[in-house]
Order: sequence, then structure tokens, then C-alpha cells
Amino acid sequence: MTSAIAIAHPNIALIKYWGNRDDLLRLPSNGSISMNLDGLFARTQVAFDPAFTQDSLSLNGREETGKALARMTGFLDLVRRLSNTDIYAQVISENNFPTAAGLASSAAAFAALSLAATHALGLDIGERDLSCLARRGSGSACRSIPGGFVEWLPGNDDQSSYAVSIAPPEHWDLVDCITIVESLPKNTGSTEGHRLAGTSPLQTARVADAPRRLDICRQAIINRDFEALAAITELDSTLMHAVMMTSSPPLFYWHTSSLALMKEIPDWREHGLPVCYTLDAGPNVHVLCQGTAANQVKGRLEQFPGVEQVLPARPGGPAQLVENLISTL
Ligand code: DP6
Repeated sequence: MTSAIAIAHPNIALIKYWGNRDDLLRLPSNGSISMNLDGLFARTQVAFDPAFTQDSLSLNGREETGKALARMTGFLDLVRRLSNTDIYAQVISENNFPTAAGLASSAAAFAALSLAATHALGLDIGERDLSCLARRGSGSACRSIPGGFVEWLPGNDDQSSYAVSIAPPEHWDLVDCITIVESLPKNTGSTEGHRLAGTSPLQTARVADAPRRLDICRQAIINRDFEALAAITELDSTLMHAVMMTSSPPLFYWHTSSLALMKEIPDWREHGLPVCYTLDAGPNVHVLCQGTAANQVKGRLEQFPGVEQVLPARPGGPAQLVENLISTL
């Protein structure tokens, strides 16, 4: 038996990935930029053993079958092909963040799985190839391989679509106050959503303007320019949701309290608080602020009607191999 354990953080996209040029290869319609979320992680142990008769997956202590297992097996087939083997694997994965938080866990999960699985099979591939591989499991997972502030270069084939770090975690003391407004599971997942993006007449315009937004966002990060980051992050989030809401069938992810927060937060900013918002494919609101304002922002959010919980996360590092046992979570 050969095994390895890796951890990876989830990430929050400031410029969003929504829609693929190629669904199978997960080649995105546009580039994206994100920040890894420190403190939150998936920890995944992968063991390959010739004695196994099939792959197995335990997720947060529950044995998975069906879709989740099939998606993982499909992904492990890619890793097996890389190392020319057909040995099955036992995968044990746990998130340290509440599943009720409705956070996209696939990014952290596939980033950790890519690193642990390749290492377990003795494949020593570099960050770029690892990011390409993670992308095949879940697009946004390619952004959880490098550390800190990360850009996914869309590329035009399997080898040219990967993520790179723009700046390390310590570059900018930003905090994502993840604001949980509703703990119900979402009804349409991202994979299905990406397939619908092209049915919106707004997607072409969103994609055509993406290089401009990426330039502004990248510069704002490099210059630590919060005002510029706030404006482009909120615009990009709303553009993605406009596409979602105008797809067929339409996807409405907002809760009434999501919208209330989207109206409130720019007001706080106008009154001097360095804060802005972005929403992924769900109702929870990621409220980004400068570290100096984090306590005040968290306090205000906790008082806001409809808010269930606020989880603060600073910029996180890259996916990493770890030695300790999974039971120490
Ligand atoms: C709205 O990476 O979760 O969070 O490749 O199908 O797993 P799959 O999709 P996924 O999509 C993320 C969509 C998003 C925006 C983003 O993270 O860029």
C-alpha cells in the first residue's frame, strides 16, 4: 500500500469562473482571480492498494456512493493514467468547516485529492501540472493549488489552463467575513450551472469584458487598492448573477437577506468602512474587508437581520502535504 495526506483551502473568487468553452476538460470561458481562505481546509488521505477491488470515498465520516463516488473515480482514472497503473484507492476526506456553511467545498476537496493522490503514486509533478490536474476535478480547484491571491489563466488546451499566484498570503491583510444567511443546500450545483451559462444572452458580454476586469482586479491586488478592488469585485459578482438569472432555466441563488446585505454594504463603504461583497452560486455573502476593520465588520454582520453565522478567513497558503493522521482534525 502507498498513501499520502494533503490539505487545501477553499477559495473565494473576486473575478468569477462561470461557463466553460469545454465542459469535459473544464476549460473556462474566462480567466478568474481568487483568494485562498486560511483556517478553512479539506484534509484528504489517499491510499492505493492492489488488494482493493474498487475505489471508496469517505466524506466527513460518511461512506459515499453514487454521484460523488463516480466523480472521484473519474478523476482518479486521470491520475492512474498518468502513472500507468490500475490500482484502486481508498479516499478519506474531511472538511474542517461546517457543511451547513454551504461553502463550495469541491475546490478544496479536489486540490487536496490531486496532491495526495499524485504523491501516493510517486508522481512528483510541479505546481503548474498539479493545478491543471486539479482543474479536471473541479474548475475552481486549480486555484486552490498555489498560495495567497491566485489567477487562473484560461488557456486553450489541457496544459495551458492553470492557476498561478499573483501575491503571497501576507501581501495584503484582507479578511473574508463569510456571512451565512441560510443553511439549506443549494438546488443547482456549479457543474450544472456552467452548462447553462451559454443560454443567457448576457454571457457573451460578460466574457468579452472579462480581460478588462481581470486587469483591474490584478492591479488592485498588487497595489493593495481597496476602493478599486471593491468596485470591480461587486461588479463581477453582479454580472455573474445577471447571467445566472437570465439563463434557461433561470438560476436565482439570492435569499432576501443576501439582497439586503448587497444594498447595505456599499453604504458602509461610503461611510468610511473598507468593505465590499461577492456571492458565489449560493445565498451566502462573502464580505471582504481590510484586516483593520474586520472586528467591526463582523460585529455589524452578526447584528444584521437574517444572518446566522459569520466565519472570518484571511488569505491562505497553497495546498500542502501533511504528515499527521486524519483523526487529529
Ligand atoms: C460561482 O469550480 O465549483 O464559485 O468545475 O463544475 O466543479 P465545477 O465548478 P466550480 O465553479 C465555481 C463557480 C463559482 C465561481 C468561482 O469560484 O469562480
